[in-house]
Amino acid sequence: MKTPNRKKTLKRLLAYVRPYAGYTVFGVLSLLGLALITLYLPLLLGQGLIDDVLMKINENGMKTLNTLALTAVVLYVVKGLFSYAQHYCLAYLGHSVVRDIRNDLLSRVLYLPLGYHQSARKGEIISKVTNDINNLQTAVGQGLGEFINQVVTGVGIIVIIFVLDYRLATAACLVLPLIAFLVWVLSRRLRFLARQVQAKLADISAGLQEVLSGIRVVKAYRAEKKELENLQGENQRSFAINMKSTRIMAGVLPLIEVISVIGLLIVVWFGSKEVIAGRITAGTLVSFITYLGMTSGPITSLSRIISLFQQAFASAERVFELMDEPEEVSSEEAKAELVVREGRIEFQNLSFSYAEEEVLHNISFTIEPGEVVALVGPSGSGKTTIANLLMRFYNPDSGRILIDGADIAAVTLSSLRSQIGLVPQETFLFAGTVFDSIAYGRKEATRQEVETAAKRANAHEFIMQLPNGYDTLIGEEGASLSGGQRQRVAIARAILKDPKILILDEATSALDAESEKAVQDGFELLKEGRTALVIAHRLSTIKNADRILVLKDGCIVESGTHDELMALGGIYYSLYAAGDAAEA
Ligand SMILES: Nc1ncnc2c1ncn2[C@@H]1O[C@H](COP(=O)(O)OP(=O)(O)OP(=O)(O)O)[C@@H](O)[C@H]1O
Ligand SMILES: [Mg+2]
Repeated sequence: MKTPNRKKTLKRLLAYVRPYAGYTVFGVLSLLGLALITLYLPLLLGQGLIDDVLMKINENGMKTLNTLALTAVVLYVVKGLFSYAQHYCLAYLGHSVVRDIRNDLLSRVLYLPLGYHQSARKGEIISKVTNDINNLQTAVGQGLGEFINQVVTGVGIIVIIFVLDYRLATAACLVLPLIAFLVWVLSRRLRFLARQVQAKLADISAGLQEVLSGIRVVKAYRAEKKELENLQGENQRSFAINMKSTRIMAGVLPLIEVISVIGLLIVVWFGSKEVIAGRITAGTLVSFITYLGMTSGPITSLSRIISLFQQAFASAERVFELMDEPEEVSSEEAKAELVVREGRIEFQNLSFSYAEEEVLHNISFTIEPGEVVALVGPSGSGKTTIANLLMRFYNPDSGRILIDGADIAAVTLSSLRSQIGLVPQETFLFAGTVFDSIAYGRKEATRQEVETAAKRANAHEFIMQLPNGYDTLIGEEGASLSGGQRQRVAIARAILKDPKILILDEATSALDAESEKAVQDGFELLKEGRTALVIAHRLSTIKNADRILVLKDGCIVESGTHDELMALGGIYYSLYAAGDAAEA
């Protein structure tokens, strides 16, 4: 695990505080007022009540007593106001900072390239957006105010006790360096553990997310027990790390207390001797001891807050790591808008690799406006990859893709993607109604438009048979629909978008005959007047194409019409023969 630069992390956090400087300053000033009043109260008790009223009983006593009582009431009211103001302002600061960081993180995550998402664990991202940001919330919202309050109180106490009696104060302060050293050593250890705790939490949520997505496979293989053991194992490791830091935290407080009490006893013994000798008043000693008693507040809270800060730091580092992932579009990208008039697609000498191994090798082909081209080839030959590159989900290693003469690397992603309709190989539907699923790309679509699109995709009939028609709720990933139904909904979605260019990545899974025909018919309608690239697995689709490209091991090896390629007797011929046998 690399240790990021602490100063840099702090600087980035402070940048989020800056917009709320007004709230911060007002909150901190209120805190100062609060701390000063708290600091003044023991003086009122010791020197005011004991020395001026109780120890010298005279005719002014009652008057002084009344003044003291009135002062105390006023101080408490003012203290209450300060307390309210500092709570409000600092909570406002904390919640705002957390909202802003979370917003930044969310917008970063959605714009990360597809390549990132395909290798990242979703649960880990979710954990950063929730758990880690919650830690920041606690630190900024509660920890910061408490920290300032305790530091001011602590420093104030030290100043006051030195003014009251520097010799007693020196004796009391002898134990301070020892405590400071302890806190410093332990807090480093706590920060390390905090990072591990957060990483474990993310592992658990990523693991659970994966198991739930694949629950069908888990159940089919009776793997519940194995998966459960994995998750519970992670949970147990998180428990162990938590207990490790608990052992440190639990040990710190008593240790500090014992050290402090020893300091206090020295002061009580030495101070009483001074009072007996008449060198200081009884009131001064009472004030002094009250102040020393007050130091336990700052000492214990500071060690708690420091551990809170350590957790927040660990979390901030994890959040910033994700924020620093490079965005989808490189900064040198031109801002031109793509205008598709005809819809000519050209691949020029294009090579591409996902990782080290090259998947597409120096591919060139052209699809003329309005042409329907079928792309066929064995599984893994790179068909979906070609669609991915056309959508610019990935950037090619070399070569380029032109649409109506414009390099797609030189236009904005939104102008490119808004003009291409993609029906992916694996259809994904969001949880919601059928209507929402079809209207996904065009939120403002009317009921009429959605129904027309569904009819053209041959989806209307089955949708009307659902319990609530278009208002039927479908589960996550469209779980309550069959594969064929899902793809028809996806086609309706693409029809509604009305794109100039269409990519259909046919589902490889076997559709029933009716669904397959429906998909084909729907597609026939859809491709009218558009340029279409059909990644085909079925004979009917291939036959309807104007031209067929045969892809093998990342190279285009054959090209022509069905009849031409059959006459050639090459790869297409053997693929077709195998497909024919399968369909028969
Ligand atoms: N996200 C990815 N990261 C790394 N390698 C990938 C990724 N996606 C695909 N590949 C690899 O690239 C090659 C081409 O994959 P592609 O999905 O384009 O095949 P395909 O022709 O669409 O196959 P199918 O007919 O099974 O859908 C395969 O060897 C595959 O293992
Ligand atoms: Mg594919």
